[in-house]
Amino acid sequence: MATTIDHQIRNSENKLDYNGPLTRDAFGSDFKWGVATAAYQIEGAVHEDGRTDCVWDVFARKKGRIRNNDDARHACDFYHRYEQDLDLVKELGFEQFRFSLSWSRILPGGYGKVNQAGIDFYNKLIDKCIVLGIEPWITLYHWDLPQALEKSGGWKNRRIVEWFAEYAAVCAHAFGDRVKHWIVLNEPMAVAGLGYTTGEHAPGNKGIHNFLPVVHHLALSQAEGGRVLRKILPEARIGNAISCSYVYPNSQSAADVRAARRADALMNRLFIEPALGLGYPKDAFPFLANIKRFMREGDRERLKFDFDFWGLQNYFSVVVQHSYLAPVMWLKEVPATLRNVPTTSLGWEINPIGMYEILKQFQRYKGVRELVISENGAAFKDILKGEKVEDPRRQAYYQDYLAAVLRARNDGVNITGYFAWTLLDNFEWAHGYSARFGLVFVDFKTQERTVKASGRWFAGFLKKEEM
Ligand code: BGC
Repeated sequence: MATTIDHQIRNSENKLDYNGPLTRDAFGSDFKWGVATAAYQIEGAVHEDGRTDCVWDVFARKKGRIRNNDDARHACDFYHRYEQDLDLVKELGFEQFRFSLSWSRILPGGYGKVNQAGIDFYNKLIDKCIVLGIEPWITLYHWDLPQALEKSGGWKNRRIVEWFAEYAAVCAHAFGDRVKHWIVLNEPMAVAGLGYTTGEHAPGNKGIHNFLPVVHHLALSQAEGGRVLRKILPEARIGNAISCSYVYPNSQSAADVRAARRADALMNRLFIEPALGLGYPKDAFPFLANIKRFMREGDRERLKFDFDFWGLQNYFSVVVQHSYLAPVMWLKEVPATLRNVPTTSLGWEINPIGMYEILKQFQRYKGVRELVISENGAAFKDILKGEKVEDPRRQAYYQDYLAAVLRARNDGVNITGYFAWTLLDNFEWAHGYSARFGLVFVDFKTQERTVKASGRWFAGFLKKEEM
């Protein structure tokens, strides 16, 4: 969190100064380049081959929850088209493919009987990656909780730690012979905040009373998932992916600076610090002290896990100010759209310096071994004209954010990989199909794919073509 702006990294135009050409070689030959996806956003085939409902299927059936009442019954039809889509990953030059597993495809009841057809699908996907020379990276949980578990309270019920451990073990046994890189949870903060507190995401539960138990069960599960994977797959590299945004106070007033510290505790520190053995960040956000009501003896130990890497997912930075009108947090965001700064089509501030600062912030944790950007990307209004999609703003976004990553790496941050979000335009959660993040344009009526200009730029960058 900033209280002052670091002028040294800005050039005379107030932009990030990264001294040097942005080339793949500048990142070093070991740096990993990948593209990230998530099961629910692309697979479709929601009721095929034994898969049962997940919370998002149920949420999408309720009117008014998702923009235009879109649903993901077909999404990108990746379930049937994964081979040609992996060919696209190859064509774009990525050497790592991050995807998530659908829990309700593998364990339709949430626990208990394994669905072999679900295992078969991911086996085929992994094998195809390997044939293409692409390394598969698995995310165990990217928000699509089996509805069967939500019926028993989902993340509010502490038993989820056992259910999740069972699911992790099934996956480790099924795929661990070929998959080296594992990510336990994807952005647990979004699950706790949007899924169980504001209700903007599935399962749509509302109420601050849900927040702390859900946070605690997610934090226990991320560590438990790590332990299960490590026990079964001692050679695996195990990480966890968290959202993060650099937080600026709106002014240097003591109230705004404290508000920024509270926001920082929630947005950046909440899930990493218990895993590192630092406990929940109640120093900055005293409300978190109430989490002790959900803690049992031994939990402080149980929350710890020594991850091989932390996946950081950074899209934007935020500015916050103190507010008396927002109980509990006592702050509000000053929207980027009111600050005359560049934004994406979702109104998210484009600020590569925020990426640089957040990398430096995470590097300061002693217990962090390695950082990977496990997601970064932008939505813009793309138009297919002829056979082309010209998206210069997305290309510029990637160039500027990559420059920030490179600058941080050159300044000593141990960042070893970068995953673009995302391969295909897809089901963007509560925004439905209205927000396009892909490097590849998808016509959802015909399922036709068209590589966008930004995708072609990325391919040229990765293949080291002169640009
Ligand atoms: C999520 C993705 C999502 C992306 C863009 C991340 O929070 O992990 O699933 O599509 O942001 O909103």
